[in-house]
Amino acid sequence: MAQNHQGNDAIQPHVLIFPIPFQGPVNCALKLAELICLSGIHVTFLNTNHIHGPLLRHTDVLSRFSRYPNFKFETVPDGLEHERPVSGDGFMEVMSAVDDVSKPIFREMMVSGSLSRKSERPVTVMIPDACFSFAVDIGVEASVPVICFETVSPCCLWSCYLNLPTLIEAGDIPFKGRDLDELVTSVPGTEHILRRRDLASFCRSDDISTPVIELIVKEARSVPRAQGLIVNTFQELDDLILTNMQNLCPNIYPIGPLHSLHKAQLVAPSSPETTFSNSVWKEDRTCLSWLDKHSPKTVVYVSIGSLATMTIDQLLEIWHGVANSGNPFLWVRRPGSIIGGFDDSLVPSELLEHTKEMGCIVDWAPQEEVLAHGAIGAFLTHSGWNSTIESIMEGVPMICWPYFVDQQVNSRFVEEVWKVGIDMKDTCDRLIVEKAVRDVMETSRDMFAQSANNWANLAKKSISEKGSSSMNLARLIDDIKSMTS
Ligand code: UDX
Repeated sequence: MAQNHQGNDAIQPHVLIFPIPFQGPVNCALKLAELICLSGIHVTFLNTNHIHGPLLRHTDVLSRFSRYPNFKFETVPDGLEHERPVSGDGFMEVMSAVDDVSKPIFREMMVSGSLSRKSERPVTVMIPDACFSFAVDIGVEASVPVICFETVSPCCLWSCYLNLPTLIEAGDIPFKGRDLDELVTSVPGTEHILRRRDLASFCRSDDISTPVIELIVKEARSVPRAQGLIVNTFQELDDLILTNMQNLCPNIYPIGPLHSLHKAQLVAPSSPETTFSNSVWKEDRTCLSWLDKHSPKTVVYVSIGSLATMTIDQLLEIWHGVANSGNPFLWVRRPGSIIGGFDDSLVPSELLEHTKEMGCIVDWAPQEEVLAHGAIGAFLTHSGWNSTIESIMEGVPMICWPYFVDQQVNSRFVEEVWKVGIDMKDTCDRLIVEKAVRDVMETSRDMFAQSANNWANLAKKSISEKGSSSMNLARLIDDIKSMTS
């Protein structure tokens, strides 16, 4: 029987989780880590330096995880300055830093066994972000099985990541000036859904040798070589996509909505704890008492997540559109999210007056609680995958203004497949925004409410004791244990 370096006979399961260093994916990975910890499996959570500092400083993650003797944080350098604000434009800079600086150190940690020695037990399974294609090779080299964790949407993962080589071979990419409204027929399963304009933002490039496309092509080749793939969706929501994806990746664990599965498995019925935020930024909870003052389903919630940015013109168009709809609104204006910054002198005084009366603006909100609040009637969102699935879970219809990566695909699925909102892709005009808000909040309110409630009920069922996501999590835990022996 194999022995660990302490000479103990039985090797215990020990998972290494390694997320990409951005607020959204780290938040998801921490939830996955906690679910695995609950089963008694040892977990080491590897952060790159520039996200680890702010995470510990601004959250109660350390005290939360201190209750698990089987949990441990480790860090790996990335050469980036701490607390540098990161927007979508900085995505590749961070990924290149990880590739140049973190990857070789990580490889050494795994192949020499130094990480295992530090943790006093060998790593038996690696769960890297699916985007870290190098981790699959390092897993082979270190004889450690790899289960990839993908935090972007499965609809985008399938159509634009795993099928990126297909899209290139079929000549669908680059677009070469062709009609953006034409359907893309080379991807099995989405032939009648996705138009060119609905493909992930990086597909719009005229040059297919960009760093992002190269990164995704590497991911498309590496993910099917892993032993499994964890995705943040529930089987019922993405049945069509998951069925197709299984042709390439037979062992998929759909365990979403992860934030709700996490909450369901952690909260005892009598526990006062209702939320488990790992948010790197401080949440302004005053917006919850502001929401308390409003009638059910009357407020529009506006947020573009942690990476998207907008110009001042776009800000003013959306602002006017939402205000002109006549609904009260709660708006998250993340510092740094307006390109070039802005001050009130750029805003018409009537709009400022109206906002004082009808609006609440915060830097960062406790979004899961906001979406679960009865006063919220619609979510104007950038269609990030976490925001989308959080909104689906709470049965909140969406008005989508996608920014980048998977968001173009997600917003199309929101409108065309799940019928839970309106896709405003590629437009930013106050009249269109106002009409979309009125459609969702008034004109087509019943239609959207019906499908949103339907998906919300299925989502709740999936995380119930015998629901699909709960069963998939149990299967994941069993598989991690059996990969150890
Ligand atoms: C990124 C990508 O943009 C997204 O497309 C991809 O699917 C995942 O990684 P991000 O842009 O931050 O994430 O969007 P999203 O996935 O929606 O995640 C935002 C997270 O921040 C959500 O979990 C949301 O609850 C949280 N949030 C957002 C807050 O806690 N407070 C806020 O005020 C706004």
